[in-house]
Amino acid sequence: MIQTMAHNEAQHRMRLFQIGDPVHLIDLKGRTYTFELKEGARFQHSGEFLTHNDLIGQPDGTIVALTRGTRLLAVLPTLSEYVLKMPRGAQIIYPKDIAVILLWADIYPGAAVLETGIGSGALTLGLLRAVGETGRVISYEIREDFLQRAEKNIALYLGKLPPNLLTRLKDIYEGIEERGLDRMVFDLPEPWRLVGSAGDALRPGGILLSYLPTILQSSQLTEALHKDGRFSQIETIETLLRSWHIEGMSIRPDHRMVAHTGFITSARRIFPASAG
Ligand SMILES: C[S@@+](CC[C@H](N)C(=O)[O-])C[C@H]1O[C@@H](n2cnc3c(N)ncnc32)[C@H](O)[C@@H]1O
Repeated sequence: MIQTMAHNEAQHRMRLFQIGDPVHLIDLKGRTYTFELKEGARFQHSGEFLTHNDLIGQPDGTIVALTRGTRLLAVLPTLSEYVLKMPRGAQIIYPKDIAVILLWADIYPGAAVLETGIGSGALTLGLLRAVGETGRVISYEIREDFLQRAEKNIALYLGKLPPNLLTRLKDIYEGIEERGLDRMVFDLPEPWRLVGSAGDALRPGGILLSYLPTILQSSQLTEALHKDGRFSQIETIETLLRSWHIEGMSIRPDHRMVAHTGFITSARRIFPASAG
């Protein structure tokens, strides 16, 4: 009886591939091929192909066969799989760092979050998921080509550009228009230049977080945060993620890992309202 109920629930919760979905096909060696599902289109691979129509209506997680029999796993990509494979304008923040940023900046459902720059939109997708439909993300970007790329990436993953994403094509060093923000996340080279305007735009209790490739930049930001006088709980961390090889008796850390991506500096905006 319990088994039948679980089976029915699984059927009910099935997500079927539909036109416009981003698709990842994964082979036995773990190589991934990506495309957008389109009526009448074909996925070509080493002289074989799969017509998109054969995938439309199939459940996420299906094994498909190409015309000469090669079998591939077809999935809707997870957010981290998607951002690693999507076309890039600017360098993305890697999933291991996005995961930590979302918790260290305490991005919560309903929050008003400002980020800059949008780059390729990887972090933006994580922020949108964390704030949910009741929150909003405001994203400043100085380069129009990057903004367009990011918007395409976001629209493909979410099906459309969500109404709670506001993008501003603008140099953020010229000023921040918003006030009363809950959270701010910076991924640009000189965030110390934003400390004064961030202090004005963040609500007391709000959090500023900045992702930086070098520790000298983190140090300069930390000094500026101390000097401003409106920030507390100032800390810098980095994330090291090590995967493991597990096969029979061979159980050990993988030989290779991404040793360095960036440093994460965060701080809390405190009351009183004036700087210095
Ligand atoms: C490393 S990329 C951001 C990547 C993004 N976080 C992601 O995960 O895809 C840095 C971005 O900041 C933008 N940028 C640099 N200076 C800026 C400024 N003064 N105002 C707005 N955007 C700026 C760049 O054009 C670039 O797109």
